[in-house]
Amino acid sequence: MSSVSVEAVDTSRASWQAASWRDRPAAQQPQWPDQASLDQVRSTLAGLPPLVFAGETRQLLDQLGEACAGRAFVLQAGDCAESFDGVTADSIRDKLKVILQMAVVLAFSAGVPTVKIGRIAGQFAKPRSSSTEVVDDVELPSFRGHMVNDINFSEHSRTADADRLVRAYHQSASTLNLLRAFTKGGFADLRQVHVWNQEFIAASPEGRRYERVADGIDAALRFMAACGISTDAPELHQVDFYTSHEALVLDYEEALTRQDSITGQWYDCSAHMVWIGERTRQLDGAHVEFMRGIKNPLGCKLGPSATADDVLALCETLNPDRIPGRLTLISRMGANQVAEALPPLLHAVRDAGHPVLWECDPMHGNTYTTPGGRKTRHFEDVMAEIDRYFTAHEQAGTWPGGIHVEITGDDVTECVGGAEALSDDDLERRYETMCDPRLNGTQSLELAFRVAERLRA
Ligand code: PEP
Ligand code: CO
Repeated sequence: MSSVSVEAVDTSRASWQAASWRDRPAAQQPQWPDQASLDQVRSTLAGLPPLVFAGETRQLLDQLGEACAGRAFVLQAGDCAESFDGVTADSIRDKLKVILQMAVVLAFSAGVPTVKIGRIAGQFAKPRSSSTEVVDDVELPSFRGHMVNDINFSEHSRTADADRLVRAYHQSASTLNLLRAFTKGGFADLRQVHVWNQEFIAASPEGRRYERVADGIDAALRFMAACGISTDAPELHQVDFYTSHEALVLDYEEALTRQDSITGQWYDCSAHMVWIGERTRQLDGAHVEFMRGIKNPLGCKLGPSATADDVLALCETLNPDRIPGRLTLISRMGANQVAEALPPLLHAVRDAGHPVLWECDPMHGNTYTTPGGRKTRHFEDVMAEIDRYFTAHEQAGTWPGGIHVEITGDDVTECVGGAEALSDDDLERRYETMCDPRLNGTQSLELAFRVAERLRA
């Protein structure tokens, strides 16, 4: 009996289709009230153009392969949850500015190429620890991201609405369009390096430190020109910027999964990179089944309960051909647990010879609620997790790969600490996130300087 069922599992593993996840338990999926409208939306989405081109995701794969080999560092950054409201050119531009600033600091101060990936243009769905929320004895479905429902606490807002999947697609398309325009059309030109420093950041010590980096870049460009070295290279005038999000709502991801006409392979064309969250990484679950068959670079979050066996099984399933850059394991242990929880995983992966790219998400293991009821993170906890993550890699002889952070370009007050020493009281001033607390522009830059110092050490 048991050998029959094992064979059955193996056979279905072998024959992957974009819909084969449907035979497996799918955690964290919305309760759609109306199957007919969901089906309609799925067919609408399936008829829309892909958001990214498979060739771009292969380019990212190559760059992540470089990072996997220790020759580059990855900066993956953006909102916890993007919003359908307020998607303005300014907000997209300001997010991009901070990411470009962080990347310049990392590349210039640490001297390593930096692969830039946004949590952007698709980060609209959230896993939740509880499927309902109770306020004043009223129980309603939890907010699951704008791809699913609205954050207002009313029955109408919290009911999952499949039309939101189409809206998420269009919102992603317009965000991506602007990102492409900014990154290829001159805004990301290294000669613009001063322009990325927004006023509120420029006024801070980190902003002034950034100005010195920017002056150094100006001087380097002038020096190159004086030596007769051409500064026409596209690398100086454009950046490769990639999109990513948690591939959570599988009806959406499946509908955007397309067969590449050049290679015949399947790609989830909703983003360049997609990742599996800590709550949906069950080996026999729907998310792992879906992700193993698409050829995009993949991420998988790992919390403190992940065992070495779990991780090796994920490596075998998600990257059986051992392609460098294919799989990024994103450790999100918490500052107090990372020193104990991460080393056994690093050793197991290293000893098995799996080409894993490691990233540190120092945000999700360090969230707590203030006495005033605000969800926050302390900047020093974030930095402590990064420090211990680097130490664990040094001791294991592995490359610390990259960081994965929740940030915004705005001057918000959501995380406490940092050079401005934001306090619990400050959280009342500009707390705007739709989900988890993000580092503001100044805190993000400070983090980049400190990571660069650690990389250089
Ligand atoms: C996230 O990245 O926003 C998230 C929900 O993370 P995790 O899956 O690690 O909890
Ligand atoms: Co989050």
